[in-house]
Amino acid sequence: MRHLIKHILATSEPKDGVTVKGWIRTRRDSKGFSFIELTDGSCLANLQVVVDSATPGYERISDCTTGASVMVDGSLVPSPAQGQKLELRATRIELIGLADASYPLQKKGHSMEFLRTVAHLRPRSNLFGAMFRMRGKIAFAIHEFFQKRDFIFVHTPIITASDCEGAGEMFRVTTLKGKEEQRPEADFFGKSTYLTVSGQLEAETFACALSNVYTFGPTFRAENSNTARHAAEFWMIEPEMAFFDLEANMDLAEEFIQSMARYALEHCAEDLAFFGKFVDKGVHERLGFVVDRPFVRIPYTEAVGILKASGKKFEFPVDDGQNLQSEHERFLTEEHFKAPTTLFNYPREIKPFYMRQNDDGKTVTAMDVLVPGIGEIIGGAQREERLDQLLENMRRHNLRPEDYWWYCDLRRYGTVPHAGFGLGFERLLMLLTGVSNIRDVIPFARTPGSAEF
Ligand code: 4AD
Ligand code: MG
Repeated sequence: MRHLIKHILATSEPKDGVTVKGWIRTRRDSKGFSFIELTDGSCLANLQVVVDSATPGYERISDCTTGASVMVDGSLVPSPAQGQKLELRATRIELIGLADASYPLQKKGHSMEFLRTVAHLRPRSNLFGAMFRMRGKIAFAIHEFFQKRDFIFVHTPIITASDCEGAGEMFRVTTLKGKEEQRPEADFFGKSTYLTVSGQLEAETFACALSNVYTFGPTFRAENSNTARHAAEFWMIEPEMAFFDLEANMDLAEEFIQSMARYALEHCAEDLAFFGKFVDKGVHERLGFVVDRPFVRIPYTEAVGILKASGKKFEFPVDDGQNLQSEHERFLTEEHFKAPTTLFNYPREIKPFYMRQNDDGKTVTAMDVLVPGIGEIIGGAQREERLDQLLENMRRHNLRPEDYWWYCDLRRYGTVPHAGFGLGFERLLMLLTGVSNIRDVIPFARTPGSAEF
């Protein structure tokens, strides 16, 4: 029976009749023996395999090079080597797939930039193995977080006709060609359609039926910003809660981030130790920080006041009533408060149509959660549940209510205060691992000018 190396390394019981399959990381030959470091990607650590020259299959040992795949039968025995309890004494070795000398992942460390050019092979490296094991586990932890709280998982559409965020950063979906492209009514769906920038509007319809829901899926933005924090395709988690206000929304958002940091510390210890050693020495400290300390909460105007009084030279000036830049957000969370920070009540002019207007007539119940190293990780709001006010917001944003008739209906039939937020999954992974470029936390990054693989 085949054993995963992860399970073998977790035991300290010697055992006969063990079969492993995996890829060779390194091979070292000495007199009459070869030592192979074998990985199957199930964990970070390798299994040491000892093959003596009398072992059946040894005649092909010189083809057992870095990157080649093999099957080994043998016995697990106590290892004399340091740092491992057991090693596998081979009784048979079989070469499955050769890897010739052009195999790009040789033993020396490679730069992140180089590894991006071999994104189809980089999951075999230590760093990306750790990254994508963690990505999968954190995705599970997200479902667990919401399922435990009785949230219903809903699948919101990928193809949509509405621009939720109103930023016009949508990729068009069309089957029209040439001149026809000017006639949306002749298109596949009979209207102009796009890849979704957010599942929120559809999630709201489900919250207004099932109370607490969440969506977790891919979202797309044609932002032409080549930053380390923006991707054209990313995954977003969007919970939406009926009978919920801004305060409760901020509570849930902060608890969610803390819970993810705690999960990473508890369930991804081996991979996290690797990130702490080779990527970001401060990662454990930062996660401890997120888990232990209450988040700071202040209104947008107060944050602007702090930024203006800071005397700090920013590349972009701090302008009352304008969106904060990432450098401003990072100053607040990293230098000023030295804690994750939630800003709320933003000027209505800079926020989308669906946010609830406050009594001051100037601000909306928006909230952004900012974290060290990243800046904005969550954006959310209490939604406008009053039909007349929503129609007024749409007018100001130049949206046609008839295009959003179904969204308006939620306010016509049994409207309720409701709220929700969106967390960028890749930004969460950057926070949890310390990896500083979004291209390195997603299997195959889509960024301006780049859609290889
Ligand atoms: O702040 P945003 O634009 O909010 C929304 O889309 C709301 N509809 C969410 C909601 O209330 N349901 O985006 C939410 C989060 C951001 O805070 C950020 O973490 C991430 O999505 N995000 C991106 N991540 C990677 N690349 C991009 N281009 C991103 N744009 C937003
Ligand atoms: Mg935002």
